[in-house]
Amino acid sequence: MPRYAHIIGWGKYAPSNVVTNDDLAKKIDTTDEWIRERTGIAQRHIATEKESTATMAILAARQAIENANVRPLEIDLVIVATVSPEYPFPATACLVQSAIGAERAGAFDLEAGCSGFVYGLASAAGMIRGGMYDTILVIGAETLSRFVDWKDRATCVLFGDGAGAAILRASEEPGGVMASVLGSDGSGGELLIVPGGGAKHPAGPDTVLSRMHYVRMNGREVYRFATRVMAEASKIVVERAGWSLDQIDLFIPHQANARIIDSAAKSLKLAPERIFVNLQDYGNTSAASIPIALCEAVDAGKVAPGNHVVLVGFGAGLTWAACAIEWTAVKPGAPTLPQRVVAGRLRYLWAGLKAIGWRLLRRTDAAASKVIDAVERKTPEE
Ligand code: COA
Repeated sequence: MPRYAHIIGWGKYAPSNVVTNDDLAKKIDTTDEWIRERTGIAQRHIATEKESTATMAILAARQAIENANVRPLEIDLVIVATVSPEYPFPATACLVQSAIGAERAGAFDLEAGCSGFVYGLASAAGMIRGGMYDTILVIGAETLSRFVDWKDRATCVLFGDGAGAAILRASEEPGGVMASVLGSDGSGGELLIVPGGGAKHPAGPDTVLSRMHYVRMNGREVYRFATRVMAEASKIVVERAGWSLDQIDLFIPHQANARIIDSAAKSLKLAPERIFVNLQDYGNTSAASIPIALCEAVDAGKVAPGNHVVLVGFGAGLTWAACAIEWTAVKPGAPTLPQRVVAGRLRYLWAGLKAIGWRLLRRTDAAASKVIDAVERKTPEE
């Protein structure tokens, strides 16, 4: 029997700290009018000191787990798409895996710029359809506010923080992720780059003084690239799914710039009501932008079972990606039962305590082994 990969749960998180264009205009040489006209962005959510990529990813994941009605132990794999991971290593996905108590799951981070979530979804769907796994959690999470140069008005006004998550599950019922397109062009890598802090230019006083640890972007070139690939990738994925462009019920593009979205929509001949846009509220949240938009679209009732949904992203790399989804999930109507909320909280508390327990055990084990080794070394040969 052929296997299909259905989206059965979704969740999102955005910091409550909102920074408007006028707030930015008080700190840098910009105006609300310029930002709105050139980008469509009105505000963005910016992480507070207590928030970071992992904390936001965990909260989005918990919401997705809850509305998918799965237990963390059922999850086979956790993929976190991000360009702003918690650390260079370990992977943010491992921090999520531990915090949600997905004890059976593998975990890895995926770095494909703002296309990361769609890359993750396509990879997860392939693994499910191929029979490798049954249940996969895919997250897009970013704290780009920690990587933008707040003195560079050409980039800092564009980005925001947040996380979005989806749970995919195997089924023999047709539907779910029906086709995907993944693309890359590394020759354009320098158009959108954080040049410092990696193996080529390790972090040090020089990289910091020359501000190499911040995002650098050639906005015009990225713009030209984005308008071209958004439409191209969408056309290919729709063809691979066996649909025509007029069968797209909802188009959810990467939320970077309203003008880029308009240009893609024009080329695809999509009416505004078939396009989901929320970048005015979030700015560009990179790999988190598409899953946050997907959540908002579903929660707003814009996606119904049987609908054809196209997700398309582009970003650093350069990369682009698209997925054609035949939506099958019924929006959870009833509020979550209080018992389930309590059970969920207890589960995460227990996962946290267990992680602390394992850490303590590892340290005690190392100390005990040292003592035993020392005693053995001092024991005379018989
Ligand atoms: N406020 C006011 N003026 C600004 C500004 C800001 N925040 N940022 C740039 N400007 C100025 C520039 O200095 C320039 O001034 P000058 O003509 O005196 O030199 C002028 O506005 C025009 O700059 P330009 O870069 O040509 O603007 P643009 O129309 O290309 O718009 C972007 C800039 C960044 C909005 C646009 O190029 C873009 O959206 N590119 C794609 C970026 C993207 O999506 N990146 C993420 C990919 S995942």
